[in-house]
Amino acid sequence: MENPLKIGIAGVGTVGASLVNVLNNKQNALANRCGRRIDVAAFSARSRDKDRGCDLTGAEFFDDPVKLAQSGIDVFVELIGGEDGAALESVRAALKSGKHVVTANKALLARHGVELAALAEENGLILNFEAAVAGGIPIIKTMREALSANDITRVYGILNGTCNYMLTRMENEGISFEDCLADAQRLGYAEADPTFDIGGFDTAHKLAILTSIAFGSQIAADEIYVEGISNITNADIEAAHELGYRIKLLGVCQKTASGIEQRVHPTMVPLESEIAQIGGVTNAVALEADIVGELVLSGPGAGGMATASAVAGDICDIAKSRPGRQIAPALGRPAAELEPYRKARMRTHEGGYFIRFTVRDKTGVFASIATRMAEHDISLDSIVQHAPARPVEDGEAKTIILITDETTESAVRAAIEAIEGDGHLIARPQMIRIEL
Ligand code: NAP
Ligand code: HSE
Repeated sequence: MENPLKIGIAGVGTVGASLVNVLNNKQNALANRCGRRIDVAAFSARSRDKDRGCDLTGAEFFDDPVKLAQSGIDVFVELIGGEDGAALESVRAALKSGKHVVTANKALLARHGVELAALAEENGLILNFEAAVAGGIPIIKTMREALSANDITRVYGILNGTCNYMLTRMENEGISFEDCLADAQRLGYAEADPTFDIGGFDTAHKLAILTSIAFGSQIAADEIYVEGISNITNADIEAAHELGYRIKLLGVCQKTASGIEQRVHPTMVPLESEIAQIGGVTNAVALEADIVGELVLSGPGAGGMATASAVAGDICDIAKSRPGRQIAPALGRPAAELEPYRKARMRTHEGGYFIRFTVRDKTGVFASIATRMAEHDISLDSIVQHAPARPVEDGEAKTIILITDETTESAVRAAIEAIEGDGHLIARPQMIRIEL
């Protein structure tokens, strides 16, 4: 058997500790599969003495991850998190000092992925990041390798386990937003700063990576339209259900006539659709391509073990690689060949919309809303009016829910603005896009 592959792990938290346990528990099996042992030679964390629930006996401790990256290891595994700071400095240092890199850090890749991919190429090194998108689902390898003969036209999916877990529990158990989030944090699903999850930014980071691989374009994380789930109430979830939909936080990228559309927002999906069945921490990525047609991959999207599975797979790929072999580019094509990103503006987005108005219950309100929609050329698929919800000063509040036929984002925004100007609303309208 060849010399062991010496890895250094920077960050031994939820993912790092699970990875160490996987590598320890499966040491012999992995050695047989890879033709060499994988040894955790060194690690770095903020605290040296913390009990991490994993055995790091014999591994050298570095309090500086950059020093770890420059030490005598073969592979640097970055599991610290964050788009800059220690994660970026140590990954750069690793690639500059001839170490292959494995990372689960989507924020880092969304911001610096092209630079890091170029650095890896220049130095003939592997940069693997399967765990960065959709946890345990092997979507990066699928798109980058298995589908490389396809032209992909659209990718969409549930890319954040925390949000899907929360929306599922809010729907099934009527639990509050805050309690669901606390449970997601306790279970190790959420980011260190959970506003990345609920604000939609974590989904956006993952989407930016998928867009680049799908369309061969440069990563453009700042060009994504992002809405999170913090405005979603139990009332929206119930209304969606009543109308035959379920609310999911989706990330969508697609080619349109005017460019590439990238968007993250709560989305109504038909109750009977495949994506609507994806509950809890499970993620799903659906894609449409010219040769294969439609493909949906689903599986656990967050949590220590699911993520460690993908990180360990990336390490095994490096253990199996042999010196002198051609290394595949990290983003599916050489970094210099990635095309400039051509953005399709959000106002040109076409689709159906769910709009919920809370109005004063006065004669003519219903008709005036319908008129405003017609003035903006928006045809309505269904209208639901609810019984009084709570008394207000000059009458009672009513909820009016519209489902539009396919229209444009700019028409819907203009119609809502006109309706707000008419003065019948007693709360800000809720607008949720529909994806079929
Ligand atoms: P975590 O539990 O917060 O662990 C972070 C680790 O990094 C801790 O061990 C911490 O040390 C260490 N660390 C922080 N700053 C450091 C520094 N300056 N130098 C050295 N070590 C430092 O995070 P996690 O959930 O494992 O996530 C790690 C990465 O995986 C992130 O990029 C995350 O986005 C990604 N990811 C997470 C999941 C998931 O389900 N959790 C899934 C997919 C991807 P101490 O322990 O001493 O504080
Ligand atoms: N916080 C992330 C999520 C971790 O909930 O999906 C996996 O990337």
